[in-house]
Amino acid sequence: MTKLKNDTLLRALLRQSTEYTPVWLMRQAGRYLPEYNQTRARAGNFLALCKNPDFATEVTMQPLARFPLDAAILFSDILTIPDAMGLGLYFSDGEGPKFERPLREEWEIRALTVPDPAVHLRYVMDAVSQIRRTLDNRIPLIGFSGSPFTLACYMVEGSGGTDFRQIKTMLYQRPDLLHHILNITAQAVTAYLNAQIESGAQAVMIFDTWGGALSHAAYQEFSLRYISQILAGLKREHGGGRIPNIVFTKGGGLWLESIADSGCDAVGLDWTVDIAEARRRVGHKVALQGNLDPAVLFAAPEVIVAEVEKILAGYGSGDGHVFNLGHGISQFTPPESALTLVEAVHSISRKYRQHSPL
Ligand code: CP3
Repeated sequence: MTKLKNDTLLRALLRQSTEYTPVWLMRQAGRYLPEYNQTRARAGNFLALCKNPDFATEVTMQPLARFPLDAAILFSDILTIPDAMGLGLYFSDGEGPKFERPLREEWEIRALTVPDPAVHLRYVMDAVSQIRRTLDNRIPLIGFSGSPFTLACYMVEGSGGTDFRQIKTMLYQRPDLLHHILNITAQAVTAYLNAQIESGAQAVMIFDTWGGALSHAAYQEFSLRYISQILAGLKREHGGGRIPNIVFTKGGGLWLESIADSGCDAVGLDWTVDIAEARRRVGHKVALQGNLDPAVLFAAPEVIVAEVEKILAGYGSGDGHVFNLGHGISQFTPPESALTLVEAVHSISRKYRQHSPL
């Protein structure tokens, strides 16, 4: 394996020592960058960006040209899997993702099959290889997928921004059907993430955006169980290097112990969690990623710096912290605020990393 020039992110995810706290931003390539909007206009629409490896590579690289980030993340979407399953993904302007054929009837659910990533998701694998070539070992590339439950929310509801009425009705009324969807989807996610790893992804993240909408018991049964199933089937090494993984359940702060026991290397935290307390609860088992409120980036530079310092001080000295936002960056964020954030993390964190106690 060729050596990465900057492997700080990978070391932090494995709770090894680093000189400073690595940082990347969820949705770091996106609409807050004018150059992203220009590329998207050239591509025609968002899905065309995702499905063309040249465009996907171009937008993946855009935030890296502006900010000294410690990781790139594949430009794609979590909904590529249900799209490959034939549900007909489309994005209508300003309304977010939708499916032409949401899963409603039992026969449709029983007919679901696991897509072959080398065939139906070839464009994602081509993007991963092309991004790796373009990165030229500067920083690691993160691959990702949605969690089975989060994907099922879109597959059953047919769109985002709902009250979860359809999927929760299924959960309570026909749990067997939901389990069937989740089981097929978990197999699809495992194959998809392993294919990304084989194509060059150096870490992988599972986004469980909607797990936090579940009750305590339902979270364990319908979300975390399938995440653990995926983790058990993931390649842990490739090309001579460890491939760390991150699990992020938005709204999962109450369940940190069970998430940390799922077999993951790192747990993503949303901004509602106190990172000091999270570290006390699970920091001896896993690395932590997070967790600045994305809305802080609307404030003045001195406020951003102060809020970054609070999180770094909260985590304290020692290893195993990856700085990130608690959720995706807003499209209304001034790009200069992201630069202020990244520079503040790099400069302030050095003092916490210097005398790492074991
Ligand atoms: O982090 C990155 O830079 C990588 C790219 C990435 C996108 N989506 C690009 C995108 C990642 C990691 C995702 C994951 C994703 N997609 C999630 C999980 C993370 C989260 O935010 O909770 C979810 C739930 C989706 C589904 C999805 N895709 C939604 C709900 C939307 C609309 C949201 C919005 O902001 O309008 C998308 C579209 C999308 N995915 C955009 C981007 C840059 C905006 C599309 C555009 O250009 O119009």
